[in-house]
Amino acid sequence: DRLADFLRGMPKAELHIHIEGSLEPELIFQMAQRNGVSLPYASVEALRAAYAFTNLQSFLDIYYAGASVLLTEVDFFDMAWAYFLRARADNVIHAELFFDPQTHTMRGVPFAVVINGLHRAVERARQELGIRASLILCFLRHLSEDEALATLEEAKPYIGRFIGVGLDSGELGNPPEKFARVFAEARRLGLRIVAHAGEEGPPAYIWGALDVLGAERIDHGVQALKDPALVERLVREHIPLTVCPLSNIKLCVFPTLAQHNLRELLDRGLVATINSDDPAYFGGYINQNYLETFQALQLNLGHARRLAENSFVASFASAEEKCRDL
Ligand code: HPA
Ligand code: ZN
Repeated sequence: DRLADFLRGMPKAELHIHIEGSLEPELIFQMAQRNGVSLPYASVEALRAAYAFTNLQSFLDIYYAGASVLLTEVDFFDMAWAYFLRARADNVIHAELFFDPQTHTMRGVPFAVVINGLHRAVERARQELGIRASLILCFLRHLSEDEALATLEEAKPYIGRFIGVGLDSGELGNPPEKFARVFAEARRLGLRIVAHAGEEGPPAYIWGALDVLGAERIDHGVQALKDPALVERLVREHIPLTVCPLSNIKLCVFPTLAQHNLRELLDRGLVATINSDDPAYFGGYINQNYLETFQALQLNLGHARRLAENSFVASFASAEEKCRDL
């Protein structure tokens, strides 16, 4: 129908995509074979069949297993390039990609291999696909702050190759306060700041992300509606939320898409956006997230325009770039 065509065709930004979460089973098996890595799954189909999650942790276990096939610069390039081809098909013109260096450095893959492979794909996406992309380094919150500080030290020689830092992995029991010092150092370095908060965790974690980490944007943030004072703060300060509807359903944050609170977030004046999170695991890239959410929540053309506008407003593009995008 016409709304679906409009959603597919409209230029958009994607601000919440874990590049390791774009690794499709076919590519996992291809890389396992060429790198001599053995997988605990017999086939692409067996791996895909394991994608039945009950919460965030049940997903993370499989997500980290999938990432174990990434060893060389070419692997990181190929993974990101495959994402960029999908992004172009969905009319994404600006993308900010999360990457999890600790998932790789813990396995002995040098930080340089990770960032150089991703950076090459970012450069080629600009040249050949016309996609403006940048990288955001995420710290794994189930690990210690000292490990995050060591990762930031390793990243310093490559500071020109990523624009900011974020915080991901298991949220419950790992509040933002645990990472106060490493985010203070990131701010001192002039990096942009985001954090996952209020996906499974309480509104207190969103307050902490804002007040302790200095987050400029909240990843997920769907639990904010439980706290009216927090909603007022997010609206007043125009703090964007990077919402990932299909992810929220797969990880059982909401029972069904029809019960998702995206429409209410928008109605309350929050700068909410639609994103894919880990598209290879959650059943769809960004346009699939738009299409299914619009259908389930009966959203209209006005919502479509607002969400696309929000995606550019919420991005870390320069003021001049935003002017052209909007
Ligand atoms: N939440 C937390 N950590 C993650 C996610 C997520 O949705 N995806 C990849 N790492
Ligand atoms: Zn995420």
